[in-house]
Amino acid sequence: MKKVLVLGGYSGIAQAVLDILAQEDTTLYLVGRSEEKLNIVKDHLQSIGNPLVFTKSVDLNSLETHKSLLEEAIHQMKGLDTLFVCYGILPNQKELEQDPSKVVENYFTNAISTIHFVSLASNYFEEKKNGTIAVVTSVAGDRGRKTNYYYGSAKSCLDTFLEGLRHRLFKTNVKVITIKPGVVDTAMTQNIDKKILVAKPEKVARDIVNAINNSKEVVYTPWYWKYIMAFIKALPRNIFYRTEF
Ligand SMILES: NC(=O)c1ccc[n+]([C@@H]2O[C@H](COP(=O)([O-])OP(=O)(O)OC[C@H]3O[C@@H](n4cnc5c(N)ncnc54)[C@H](OP(=O)(O)O)[C@@H]3O)[C@@H](O)[C@H]2O)c1
Repeated sequence: MKKVLVLGGYSGIAQAVLDILAQEDTTLYLVGRSEEKLNIVKDHLQSIGNPLVFTKSVDLNSLETHKSLLEEAIHQMKGLDTLFVCYGILPNQKELEQDPSKVVENYFTNAISTIHFVSLASNYFEEKKNGTIAVVTSVAGDRGRKTNYYYGSAKSCLDTFLEGLRHRLFKTNVKVITIKPGVVDTAMTQNIDKKILVAKPEKVARDIVNAINNSKEVVYTPWYWKYIMAFIKALPRNIFYRTEF
């Protein structure tokens, strides 16, 4: 992986991934909104390993910052091998149903800003003819469900975008990886009712690093979500609409 740009550098899942990368010979460029949180992660990573770490405080919804952010990361790290996108928000479904003006932030954060940044980065990778783009989407994007279809549809927008980008770059040595976690125990899910099948970020992080190292294309994590979602997708509508999940 070597030179890695991480968007969402202190998200719960990214921190677990970074704990693994810090043990390897990596240069890291961490992006997030809070400079303070970025510095805490940087200090932690340098205490458990020996990575070279740069940080940049940016609100990724400010699309106008993306070009200079990418250029600065490439300049500071003297190159870029892997872009890892791991930020987002989990909106309150009911609030968005009641007040559709709030849908904009959901789609902007969970889809548009990522698509904008990845589009810029993919041109860079395509020109240098190698690199890896790994983006965290979600199993929620696999089928619209009444409990989270705003979040889910933003993630499925990303899935379709990444599938098309992978098609475009197929004949190059640029890898496009879609990572679909199920429910993970991070700040994002602290307020949702988690009864079963909640994964630790460390488990998901091992799957993510493995997917990147082995250039997998679409990865469900933990693995059993692939089969759960295949079942959910296969349910006939007249049965699916009677479910409550
Ligand atoms: N946890 C799950 O169950 C789960 C399941 C499937 C997929 N995912 C996906 O995994 C990714 C990481 O989430 P997580 O679980 O690790 O949650 P998390 O700990 O809550 O991390 C989300 C991060 O996104 C950052 N962020 C939000 N809007 C941003 C913006 N405009 N600019 C820059 N950073 C922004 C937040 O930063 P601030 O603290 O500054 O707001 C936060 O660090 C997300 O894409 C999420 O949708 C999570």
